[in-house]
Amino acid sequence: MKIDLKPLKQVLSKFDREVRMTNPGFGRVFSEHMVISDYEASSGWSTPILQPYGPITLDPAASILHYGQSIFEGLKCYPQKNGNVALFRPVENWKRMNESAHRLAMPSIPEDLFISAAEALVRQDRSWVSDKRGESLYLRPLMFATEAALGVRPSISYRFVLFASPCGSYFPQGYKAVSVWLSEDYIRAAPGGTGAAKFAGNYGASLIGQKQAIDHGCDQVVWLDAREHRYLEEMGGMNICLVEKKNNQIHLVTPELTGTILPGITRLSLIQISKDLDWGFSERRISTQEWQEKSISGEFSETFACGTAAVITPIREVKSRTGSWLINQGTIGPVALQLREYLLDLQHGEIPDSHGWLHPIN
Ligand code: PLP
Ligand code: COI
Repeated sequence: MKIDLKPLKQVLSKFDREVRMTNPGFGRVFSEHMVISDYEASSGWSTPILQPYGPITLDPAASILHYGQSIFEGLKCYPQKNGNVALFRPVENWKRMNESAHRLAMPSIPEDLFISAAEALVRQDRSWVSDKRGESLYLRPLMFATEAALGVRPSISYRFVLFASPCGSYFPQGYKAVSVWLSEDYIRAAPGGTGAAKFAGNYGASLIGQKQAIDHGCDQVVWLDAREHRYLEEMGGMNICLVEKKNNQIHLVTPELTGTILPGITRLSLIQISKDLDWGFSERRISTQEWQEKSISGEFSETFACGTAAVITPIREVKSRTGSWLINQGTIGPVALQLREYLLDLQHGEIPDSHGWLHPIN
């Protein structure tokens, strides 16, 4: 697809850019360009424009501000061993964005628009892709309702924006095991709701649970099912995976997708990787009681979070109103470590891309 290129006349100097890219953390620093396309029900999507990164204006009556039609995605562009850069599974993000759009009664985005916008932005801001292992350029596509109208109905106009942020570790402490709080007071998603969509409101509604987790000295909240508050769902921005040892065979277990959990692309990748490594994998319900008992007995030898931002992040301790328990004696386990390295090897093109997951950008 044609992208209208209107970049900055003068980009930052190498020195200034490198200062901004030092210890970037997650989502605090932004690259110099963004891509915007507007949608009107009558004419469809406009030719995307690549332009300098900066504020956008909105009508105060724009329906995003009132009724919240807003969805987003998150994907990363990795420096490759051969000196190129590549996106990891961008088509999966495009598909999921359209599933989110469908749930929020928003228009779908053509694959060509999504992928061409990502390619154009990465080409333009290529120098913002760090060359360090474990660092990447995080791309954030989003779509929101722009119609100035107060009737409660789907907007007839939308804006697609894509911008980028150089990032390192999602957690400020770097690659360390995290502690989690079991949310028994609040829920993230209910059957028939929006849990499987990457919908802004899910995140807004999750913040009080995350705040409770922090207030209890934990790094992250773990959400439980809405009906019984007994079964593991996921974390604030990551899926959960457990390691079960059966006859010395590694077996990964993750909560099944029932419509209330975000279908993570990292989770999907781990299902394939476990096949490649000859490990077992199952998707099923896991109660907090089973999690606790088997973590203490050692049957669940590890638990970790997985996601684009978090990669693989081990969990060391679980706390709730009724007590707490340690996982793997509070230390990082070998399976999480191996998977993290394996995933990073794949993402950085250090091992063969046998499933065609990398999307190189020249
Ligand atoms: N769960 C939630 C709520 C998320 O926001 C994310 C991040 O996108 C994930 C899980 C993990 O998904 P992915 O692996 O596609 O990044
Ligand atoms: C991601 O991993 O891409 C996320 O979107 C997680 C979170 C920052 C919302």
